[in-house]
Amino acid sequence: MNPRVTMGGIALFATVLYALAPIVRGNVEIPIAQHHLFHAAMIAGAAFSGILIAGWQHRERRGAAGWLLAALIAPVAAMLLMWPSEYSYFELHPWGHVAEHFGLVGLGFLTGYSGQQYANGIGWAAAISVFGMALLAAWGYGVGPPLRAVSTPAQAATSSVSTTTNPGHGADLFAKNCAVCHGAAGAGGEGPSLKNERARKSLIQAEAWIENPVPPMPKLYPGTLSAQDVGDVAAYVEALH
Ligand code: HEC
Repeated sequence: MNPRVTMGGIALFATVLYALAPIVRGNVEIPIAQHHLFHAAMIAGAAFSGILIAGWQHRERRGAAGWLLAALIAPVAAMLLMWPSEYSYFELHPWGHVAEHFGLVGLGFLTGYSGQQYANGIGWAAAISVFGMALLAAWGYGVGPPLRAVSTPAQAATSSVSTTTNPGHGADLFAKNCAVCHGAAGAGGEGPSLKNERARKSLIQAEAWIENPVPPMPKLYPGTLSAQDVGDVAAYVEALH
């Protein structure tokens, strides 16, 4: 067998093994940026193997427009798949997560392979562009809004904090103690809007803020609010959108 194709096969195999990580490790919570770097590595491995397998010597058949179309669509589709925060249900189950990874590997491969089939060098250009987009995602570009803390029981179960908080009770506390400044629906008033607070503060940070706010926001803990109350109302605020 052609050594270039063999190398491409090995690279693809290694990438597929790498994509199986969520099964091996279970669903470990890692920072979103790091997660995108792993995705970028998968795309790089898959696209590179696609280029190796397609090769670069001149071939008669090259140049069919269908390959160019695939080389253009694959990176866009890969980008859509990389919205892990929007596609959170993928991330909640190891197999769903692996399916997402296989999607990325397949699209990465297609990017390199089809570009190269269209014309020598296009595979490299397309692969580098999709890899670059994955890197940009790690720095926050094009990343969807973060997971909402308590919007579904399944998501709540993945967070150690929100399993013990009660956002329903938090809603009552909010109406009594916070709505006067932040508005009944959290849309703001004398205090700022708390919609999408999750994008500004994590649950832990929101709790810390409520425990030690900057004036004019009143310090209600300890006193009016117990530690449990702080957790509940913070969970409620984190779910506002
Ligand atoms: C007297 C009015 C007032 C009340 C009552 C009040 N807040 Fe605030 N809150 C503010 C103001 C003003 C700010 C902005 C302070 C700043 O950024 O310097 C703020 C900021 C916040 C923030 C941070 C927003 C950000 O920028 O990320 C959170 C979270 C918050 N409040 C939650 C609550 C909760 C929960 C309650 C009820 C337990 C509450 N607040 C009660 C006035 C109030």
